[in-house]
Amino acid sequence: MCCSVDQVAHEGLDLERVPAHVACVMDGNGRWAAERGLPRTEGHAAGEEALLDTVNGALEIGIEWLTMFAFSTENWHRPRDEVRYLMGFNESLLVRRRDELHEKGVRIRFAGRRDWRVPRRVIRRMDESAALTAANRRMTLTMAFNYGGRAEIVDAVRALVAAGVPAARVDERALHAHLYFPDMPDPDLVIRTSGEYRISNFLLWQLAYSELVFTDALWPDFRRHHLFEAVCEYQRRERRFGQVRGRADR
Ligand code: IPE
Ligand code: IPE
Ligand code: MG
Repeated sequence: MCCSVDQVAHEGLDLERVPAHVACVMDGNGRWAAERGLPRTEGHAAGEEALLDTVNGALEIGIEWLTMFAFSTENWHRPRDEVRYLMGFNESLLVRRRDELHEKGVRIRFAGRRDWRVPRRVIRRMDESAALTAANRRMTLTMAFNYGGRAEIVDAVRALVAAGVPAARVDERALHAHLYFPDMPDPDLVIRTSGEYRISNFLLWQLAYSELVFTDALWPDFRRHHLFEAVCEYQRRERRFGQVRGRADR
């Protein structure tokens, strides 16, 4: 079969089997800066280019859901100056980039504890960006911000209790319905950068059967070709979901 121009550009990648949902732990900003004798905050700033190139690469190959881990519930324990920088940086990033993302048909959403510790002005920017892009459907970009997988499960349990759901009615479906975004499909592929092999409290419920790809690239060096390589690796995997290869009844 003849290849389209796009297929040649993404050599080795089957555009018919692109994962619907890719989630990414953007890690290694501090080490990237340290390697250059720069303050850690410069590493965070350099991560903006990586984020935008990844989003554009994901749009290019038709990924419909992209979830990026930007700030964890544990990251509050970092030095106060770094936390303050990260709040301001994420706020200004939204102001700088939301129009361009909107024009590209990206819906921006935020997963995390929004009413806990996050400065009000940051919440305002998040709300504005989400409202501006709410009707877009080409891709949903979920920024996991002030996000913890355990906190999300705790919040879901609280919501179940508050809704008066009796214990006998609590099952996986009921809990899932109270996650931050019940309409979000589970990630097919999770990418973690910087050579660390851990989940660090990211999407604990949703990652049950995700394929994990780890890369040594530090986040500020990550570009769309790293994303395409990870998708190629994903396409070489065989997902079994606990069943036997091929027909489950064999
Ligand atoms: C990821 O980079 C960004 C955030 C967690 C906010 P790090 O800041 O964790 O960078 P390293 O892991 O220290 O290199
Ligand atoms: C995970 O990275 C959180 C984000 C990328 C926002 P961390 O750097 O915080 O994780 P650990 O400390 O290496 O596990
Ligand atoms: Mg880190």
